[in-house]
Amino acid sequence: MVNLTDKEQRMFDGEMGEATAQSMEILVALAKIFKAENMIPVSSAQVSGVSYKTIGDAGLEYLEHLVSKGAKTTIPTFLNPAGMDVSQWKEMGVPEGFAKKQLEILDAYSSMGIMKTCTCTPYFIGLRPKQGEHVAWAESSAVSFANSVLGARTNREGGPSALAAAICGVTPNYGLHLDENRIANVAIDVQCKLETVSDFGALGHAVGKLAKRKYPAFTGVKSAREEHLKVLGASMAASGAVPLFFIDGITPEYNVAEDAEKITFTDNELKTAKSELDTGEKPQLVTLGCPHASLDEIKQIAGMVSKRRPTCEFWVCTARKIKEESDKLGYSKTIEEAGGRVVADTCMVVCPLEKMGYTVTGTNSGKAAKYLPNLCKQKVAFGKLEEILYR
Ligand code: F3S
Repeated sequence: MVNLTDKEQRMFDGEMGEATAQSMEILVALAKIFKAENMIPVSSAQVSGVSYKTIGDAGLEYLEHLVSKGAKTTIPTFLNPAGMDVSQWKEMGVPEGFAKKQLEILDAYSSMGIMKTCTCTPYFIGLRPKQGEHVAWAESSAVSFANSVLGARTNREGGPSALAAAICGVTPNYGLHLDENRIANVAIDVQCKLETVSDFGALGHAVGKLAKRKYPAFTGVKSAREEHLKVLGASMAASGAVPLFFIDGITPEYNVAEDAEKITFTDNELKTAKSELDTGEKPQLVTLGCPHASLDEIKQIAGMVSKRRPTCEFWVCTARKIKEESDKLGYSKTIEEAGGRVVADTCMVVCPLEKMGYTVTGTNSGKAAKYLPNLCKQKVAFGKLEEILYR
């Protein structure tokens, strides 16, 4: 039995339009499955299912159906990456038929009042919930970052349920919205040095496989910047399905169950994780920014490639707003002069890389390294930035 407020009941009964009623039906069905007693208001939504590569014609038809029923979002709602950079798709070799469908998908979302932000790091462009704030986000790496690094509260929504929450402004109150569920049940003592993004990516890859759906709590991590934490969370969400982690002394929450499973992570495990992700090939293309790069990361990359030109083509994937700042500050120009490109709106995994002539792709992200073989038919070169850019 789900207790609905008067307003929620009116939504469910169709008094606020057909699209709202259909969305509330989805939320009530989820609440029943997960035994949520009520709905909880959310301050923002982040919607996945944006690339034509992942949702196809069926997804586009579903969105157009919602638009025809008058769907409108009622809270700030951001989009996950699309299948292409909407300004550079021709130069990048995206097939025209794909581009046409992709633009139709973006138009459908826009008709619902959703900002065409197209990023998996909305927290770098202004959507940064505070500790304890309830949100309904879908992208697994963003869910991990919101829960773990910001201390906000979200379950990992699917595309349709995040969209339903965006329309109704509420989500079922269960799982990570509740204090009692935000407790780690596997304790990882890190006994090796973690210095680079790829170190955190490899740690995430190994721990995600072990933890599966459990929540890890780390000790022994001396320091970590946001670029490390986003990669750690993304990698654990890709090799497992981890939506929340804690790091002693670093994350805003740190709660560990007394009977948590205890695991040590040493140099040996780090080495094994790295070798699992790296085929050892020389990349044709190095793709950075998984999850999407911050302005500071773009600055670091521009600084590196201005001193020594990489030995292959490279992309830095980011949000359009960050790319615009990078353009203004001259980082994009430096990157272009070194044979690279700052790519907005999309990423190496959700664009049709396999149809763009690439077969070996480099990355320093555990998540991209995990997904590139299956979703893009790529062999992977995994390693730290300096290594993959000059292999
Ligand atoms: Fe983002 Fe694409 Fe990686 S959506 S987390 S850059 S696979």
